[in-house]
Amino acid sequence: MADQKKPVVVLGVSGGIAAYKACEIVSRLKKAGTEVHVIMTENAVKLAAPLTFQTLSGNPVVVDTFAPPVAFEVEHIALAQKADVFVIAPATANILAKMAHGIADDMLSTTVLATKAPVLVAPAMNTAMWEHPATQANVKLLKDRGVHMIGPAGGLLACGDSGIGRMSEPEEITEEILHLLNSDDSMRGLRVLVTAGPTREAIDPVRFITNRSSGKMGYAIAETAAARGAEVTLVSGPVSIPAPAHCRVISVETTEDLYQAMMRECRNQDIIIQSAAPADYRPMERAEQKIKKEKGQPLHLTLVENEDIAAAVGQNKRKGQILVGFAAETENLLDNASGKLHRKNLDMIVANDVTRPGAGFDVDTNIVTLITENHQESFPMMTKKEVSEIILNKAMELYQAGR
Ligand code: PMT
Repeated sequence: MADQKKPVVVLGVSGGIAAYKACEIVSRLKKAGTEVHVIMTENAVKLAAPLTFQTLSGNPVVVDTFAPPVAFEVEHIALAQKADVFVIAPATANILAKMAHGIADDMLSTTVLATKAPVLVAPAMNTAMWEHPATQANVKLLKDRGVHMIGPAGGLLACGDSGIGRMSEPEEITEEILHLLNSDDSMRGLRVLVTAGPTREAIDPVRFITNRSSGKMGYAIAETAAARGAEVTLVSGPVSIPAPAHCRVISVETTEDLYQAMMRECRNQDIIIQSAAPADYRPMERAEQKIKKEKGQPLHLTLVENEDIAAAVGQNKRKGQILVGFAAETENLLDNASGKLHRKNLDMIVANDVTRPGAGFDVDTNIVTLITENHQESFPMMTKKEVSEIILNKAMELYQAGR
């Protein structure tokens, strides 16, 4: 953080009627022991007095990009760098659009473009403006880029309409800011590639071979890595759980698709965690038409081996890269897992006996043993979220040691 003693929040106030409510955010943040700097747009100044923000924050309020600098050399850069969290509340449709498209034409839009701090926006606008496809597309773009968003809430709006568009309450926004200030940033700057879910190998246009993987384990890992600030790519087979926040998701269907995606993506990654359950075999032929049942006759399928993706990634391993695999076993857990650790050139393998209640496929918990070259540690039943924490802690330890 920029200041060891006090975390710094830069609060942008754009021209929504809720601008006056932002005063309460400043006051709450000050009480919570943070240093606050306020940037207002020209429109915000017409709705709330800069002097109020200045008095509450104890710092000059910045509005004009070209006003003589009060305390900093190049003000927008200085504030952008000083921020531990950058908040815009209220955030109008206009500032969201500018952020989404990299437009920097005033102090607020310029500073937020220059910051590397986590950004939180609290949108506030008329319901029709919020629901407009242009605003929704901008919101999606911003969320995909990792911008945090709170609200808008529903209720009676300043324009007299009732619907979605009210700025979230200052208390909630302050809580979210404090949460971001305290959040774990330990993987910021790292690129993490995670695989999750099953694959499907087509027999004919309506049938396929698959397994019981739900994707829960891999999605928990991706979500935790993203929450720690990593840039996460998640390559996922077909699952029915929601995509984790702040991850780039690549959807695949077959083991061959997964292989192609991994060969494309693996090179630039720092940590690769393969928790997917790719099918080891696929039908040698995929029937063009639905296979007809022939009464009393067995159906013979010839299966051919799929690529071992983890082994291929292991062969292409770059110096400093950490490769983590999983071993889903039903017998000889530790021996089989150790064999895979070596054969696939992994740095760690997460062994799970998928026959144990509360472990493996399609449950919310897992029971794992982490195995590395020189170490082995078994854990009791934990939620998949908790398992993701211990896997990432160990992966980070290995990553730091290998640098
Ligand atoms: O998705 P969930 O319902 O949450 O279930 C979680 C899980 C049981 C799928 C997960 O915990 C797990 O064990 N994942 C690995 C499943 C698996 O394919 O295990 P394996 O022992 O067959 O494979 C060993 C390793 O090689 C794995 O990292 C696997 O991703 C990889 N592999 C396997 C086959 C293949 N053709 N290519 C691979 O890269």
